[in-house]
Amino acid sequence: MSAFLHLPVLSQEAPEALVRSPDGLYVDGTFGRGGHSRLILKRLSEKGRLIAFDRDPQAVKAAAEIRDPRFQIIHAPFSSMKASLSAIGIDAVDGVFLDIGVSSPQIDDPERGFSFRFDGPLDMRMDTSSGETAAEWLMRAGMDEIARVIADYGEERFARRIAGAIVAQRKIAPLATTGALARLVEGAVPKNRRDSAQHPATRTFQAIRIQINHELDELREALDAAASLLRPEGRLAVISFHSLEDRIVKRFFDRARHPEHAIDPRLPVPAGFNDEPWFREVERILPSKREAEENPRARSSVLRCGTRTARSWEPEETR
Ligand SMILES: C[S@@+](CC[C@H](N)C(=O)[O-])C[C@H]1O[C@@H](n2cnc3c(N)ncnc32)[C@H](O)[C@@H]1O
Repeated sequence: MSAFLHLPVLSQEAPEALVRSPDGLYVDGTFGRGGHSRLILKRLSEKGRLIAFDRDPQAVKAAAEIRDPRFQIIHAPFSSMKASLSAIGIDAVDGVFLDIGVSSPQIDDPERGFSFRFDGPLDMRMDTSSGETAAEWLMRAGMDEIARVIADYGEERFARRIAGAIVAQRKIAPLATTGALARLVEGAVPKNRRDSAQHPATRTFQAIRIQINHELDELREALDAAASLLRPEGRLAVISFHSLEDRIVKRFFDRARHPEHAIDPRLPVPAGFNDEPWFREVERILPSKREAEENPRARSSVLRCGTRTARSWEPEETR
């Protein structure tokens, strides 16, 4: 695949799940190279509008190719969508779409430092204009923190060994490249315990990327922002690619559809408890067999979507 191409996954299912009112105002929180944005625009009428977000300056630059008066791009993290929309006078929308994770152009460009397949600077920031690079974090973080990140976000059994190897190495010289990190991880994972289906550094790279980009907190905050922005009958559609993300989306929709599940079944229901759902028509959609065969990225994708009800949104912490 070309370094500049990103094949949208669930390209039929996702826009269909999102757009219910062609005259409406929609948000694509993850523009990437605009594969989904273009498909969403096709479903909108002349009155419809699409506002896209991406925190990657290269994605924002690519959005200039869409010359359509109904479209606008904002360079910001999707967690800030509520404040960013409010700044342009928008406080309610008809649909929010997220296709989370990294794009093919990010993974395929060695300069971005996301992949152990190509040697490049150890960066991994989606927003190259701010924040700490992976190399800087690996120099600064304590061994326990590095081990926790690799264990929690990479679900890696050998997290402590890998963290130990990183800390030992950085005393000699900083880990500056993806190649150096990949070789170090490979050396730290015992040969006879390796997963033959993937490179030994796969999980560690995933973990560090999630940490550097605060991906799980971004997702939690974006779901919350979307729920408070959506009008009744508005749609939320989220594509995720691994179980850590999908668990967050699943939990979000479970609570939103069944507020009573948050109550311990052994305890009496509190007086005045409101069990009205915040979302209905919650569905899980997987790619077709054909798409999974044609686009390897689609294999692990899961689309979860739902329809907002009229109940005003209450974020989990404040309940
Ligand atoms: C999987 S790609 C989206 C591809 C897009 N749907 C397409 O068809 O071209 C994910 C994109 O979301 C962006 N992204 C990821 N997390 C983000 C966040 N928290 N805020 C804003 N953009 C984010 C990434 O920079 C990347 O460009």
